[in-house]
Amino acid sequence: MNRIIVQGGKRLHGQIRVQGAKNEVLKVIAASIFFDEKIQITNVPEIADIFHLLEIIEDLGGQWVHKKEHVYAVETKNLKKTNLSKSLTSKLRAAIVLLGPLLARFGKASLPHPGGCAIGRRPIDIFIKGLQAMGTRVRYANETYYFQTAQLRSVKFVFPIISVTATETLLLAACLTPGQTVLINAAQEPEISALAAWLNSCGAKIKGAGTSKIIIEGVKKLKAKDVEIIPDRIEAGSFVILAAATQSYLKITHCQPEHLSVFLEILKEMGLPMKIGQNWIEVFPAGRLRAHHIVTHEYPGLATDLQPPMTVLLTQCQGQSLVRETIYEGRLFYVDMLNRMAANILMCDPSRILVTGPTPLRAKPLESPDLRAGIAMVIAALVARGTSEIANAYQIERGYENIINRLKKIGAHVKAG
Ligand code: EPZ
Repeated sequence: MNRIIVQGGKRLHGQIRVQGAKNEVLKVIAASIFFDEKIQITNVPEIADIFHLLEIIEDLGGQWVHKKEHVYAVETKNLKKTNLSKSLTSKLRAAIVLLGPLLARFGKASLPHPGGCAIGRRPIDIFIKGLQAMGTRVRYANETYYFQTAQLRSVKFVFPIISVTATETLLLAACLTPGQTVLINAAQEPEISALAAWLNSCGAKIKGAGTSKIIIEGVKKLKAKDVEIIPDRIEAGSFVILAAATQSYLKITHCQPEHLSVFLEILKEMGLPMKIGQNWIEVFPAGRLRAHHIVTHEYPGLATDLQPPMTVLLTQCQGQSLVRETIYEGRLFYVDMLNRMAANILMCDPSRILVTGPTPLRAKPLESPDLRAGIAMVIAALVARGTSEIANAYQIERGYENIINRLKKIGAHVKAG
């Protein structure tokens, strides 16, 4: 799908089911490299990023089967290659996490600079520093990073910046490394806790996942266990914002509200009427919403992935909201498109914008620069009166399964162009 055509300006109504967390599945697929036996993964979202990583596993010599919707089996006992292809790796930042299990199993791996969303420089210096600390030699030639180790060694590693995928890569590298590896200033995302819980069920010895200090006792071998993926908190948050911005009633099901505590607290302070259950969130037409300053922060703070959709909502709120993006230096450039839709957003500097609302939005030609700005453009187009076209819509499919049909089911006038 290369473009989405949206006829906006109308309220939506209905129920929407949240899919499995993209940012957990990708790391579970990477961890499948540990096992000789097949693993079955359930609650997998049917999205492009998953297919891209499975293509990489297949290119390395692994096999995978799409057993049924949302259920995959992955087997890597015949894996023989350890060099990741440039064409496949350039599509997916998460491919870098393969370094951990590849080095643990084979002692070598190579890859080009990984791709991913154009939201900043996306350096990999922390991965290199951490793997070097674990006894890996790293060299760079022909636009490729080569990693080699005779034996990974346990280490106490302090992350200079909190990095989700760097935390996961070192955690995976440590699972089969003799001794005790300690990760300080580790990322605390729920997807890391879920990954660690599953690995512990396979015989790993990981303590403290979900906190800033993770301790991994290396074990000799892991035994494959099937795994069910947790709900995608970013998808759930995106749909809450969709309901609030379009003055709609939505019930968002199969989600985990406790993974969205800060986000939901901010929405309550803005005056959004909600009912919150164990695994669902009901949003009611909001009427007037109050402006609110927001600052993105590593988990459990407000997720940077919800910043673009939140900014769209803030254009519909009464008053001025300062938005500070603290994780990625390139994650605010989509606001030009919102201003073209008659939003009133001042870019104070590359990491801060001032949103003044409410401003009715006008339909315009738009594009999706990255996955989360893409869903933000869909929400903005659904708020705006008139028909908008969003180009680069494949970016949205990378993280939001079957988005056209799911929006149609709640009354949105959308179609693929
Ligand atoms: C993960 O990205 C997620 N991706 C991102 O989701 C998410 O936005 C991000 O964490 C923050 O929550 C996956 O899990 C696949 P980082 P990741 O390494 O791990 C700096 C989405 O939309 N940094 O935590 O790649 C980096 O520049 C995606 O689903 C270094 O300086 O992000 C950034 O400022 C987008 N050196 C900060 O850390 C490094 O070696 C956080 O990046 C690594 C990172």
